[in-house]
Amino acid sequence: MFEKGRNEAFELYPGAEVYLEVGYGTDPSALRGNRSFTESKLYLGVDAAEGNYYSAVNGQEYGPAVRDAIRGFQDYVRAERPQEDIRFVIGDATCLPLANESVGECYMADVLNAPLLVDTKRTLIKEAERVLKPGAKLIVKISWDYFLFPPEEVERKLRETGLLVRNRINGGGKEFQEMEAVFGTSTGLPAGVGYYVVAEKPVAGK
Ligand SMILES: C[S@@+](CC[C@H](N)C(=O)[O-])C[C@H]1O[C@@H](n2cnc3c(N)ncnc32)[C@H](O)[C@@H]1O
Repeated sequence: MFEKGRNEAFELYPGAEVYLEVGYGTDPSALRGNRSFTESKLYLGVDAAEGNYYSAVNGQEYGPAVRDAIRGFQDYVRAERPQEDIRFVIGDATCLPLANESVGECYMADVLNAPLLVDTKRTLIKEAERVLKPGAKLIVKISWDYFLFPPEEVERKLRETGLLVRNRINGGGKEFQEMEAVFGTSTGLPAGVGYYVVAEKPVAGK
């Protein structure tokens, strides 16, 4: 079922720095953040596109419509940002179509607090860890249900896979706003609601 996504992802040219977003849903950071992705730097979004999710941005409910949204994203990129390399695929991120240690950064927004099995969440983190280059970062954003998904719990899961937790950025402050500008997922979260956790894949021998 995910064959198409796998094949598309395998066509990525070698040598480019891959920024991976797991679970872009209907709000991909590449379309909203202040980063650009060129030939030497590309954005790859992988989403299983099977869930039924609610967008914080426009209050709309989306079902498997993520599938249709992709065409819209890709048309938008072609028209508005033709010089950038932004690609979306449908795929199961518990089994990423990417080689070990091939990704320069991975971002997951509101995925680890989505209604998924704990085992699935653990596998999503493990897969992200597998594909990250040593020293590269996994950035996790949780923007709702702070009390159900406290940062300590998310950080514990990240550490379990061998990642080093570098930083936690709570909603409300200046640093949080700066992260929002980078990833464009601004929901104006006040303190005590959402947070980012920045983890890093260790470099062997360090
Ligand atoms: C709550 S939505 C968040 C979407 C978006 N990142 C945002 O901030 O609005 C969670 C997303 O994770 C995706 N997802 C869940 N399990 C997945 C998996 N195994 N592989 C890839 N994506 C997955 C869902 O399809 C959904 O789009």
